[in-house]
Amino acid sequence: MLITLEGIDGSGKSTLYNGLKDRLADLDPLFTREPGSPYLGDAVRRAIAANDDPMVEAALFVADHAVHLADVVRPALAEGRIVISDRYSDSRFAYQEVSLANVHPNPHRWLQEVHAGWSIRPDMTILLVLPVTVAMSRLEERTEQEHFEQQEFLENVQKNYLARAAEDPERFVLVDADRDAETILDFAEKSIRAALQ
Ligand code: ADP
Ligand code: TYD
Repeated sequence: MLITLEGIDGSGKSTLYNGLKDRLADLDPLFTREPGSPYLGDAVRRAIAANDDPMVEAALFVADHAVHLADVVRPALAEGRIVISDRYSDSRFAYQEVSLANVHPNPHRWLQEVHAGWSIRPDMTILLVLPVTVAMSRLEERTEQEHFEQQEFLENVQKNYLARAAEDPERFVLVDADRDAETILDFAEKSIRAALQ
């Protein structure tokens, strides 16, 4: 069972991810994330920090996904483990459709083609949704800002996430991320346990 956590920067994904580690310990899930695959994660981080070329960045996110699938996700699923990933393919569809808009003639088609037939579809995707202004104010306390963290950009990213959720309502669980962290954690834990029944 593959469960992914998605949402804009500042939506509370990392907080939820860390909370689920305690709450789901009895199920012994494998906790993992994108970007950050063995040996490619650093290259992706460098590309994000450099903010030079959206296509280089996009290609690295896809390469990172390939390593992540081959080295982490597939082996764990083959052992029958529950895998919980902080970000996964939907991040590409949400973010790179925006970042590639003036770079590639059809980012959506490219992303579809590059994932089709080999990537693994999540069984469940928990999408944290909140006003972008709230997410941005949460991020103000961070010292390091990623170039994605701009109001208009994140508005478009969230639109893309919501469009994907509308196309695939059985996979997506939408969460009001403007509530307190404990309430969100309770809801996510219940949704995951219900999906495992
Ligand atoms: P993300 O991983 O989605 O960027 P984080 O989990 O790092 O988000 O959260 C961003 C900031 O918002 C952190 O300072 C975190 O403590 C805070 N935060 C997370 N969840 C909530 C919440 N439900 N309510 C208020 N603040 C939150
Ligand atoms: P991440 O480390 O998860 O950031 P955060 O903890 O702040 O959410 O991801 C770094 C940035 O990379 C984040 O702004 C989202 C972006 N990203 C993409 O644009 N495409 C992708 O495919 C992935 C996985 C992340």
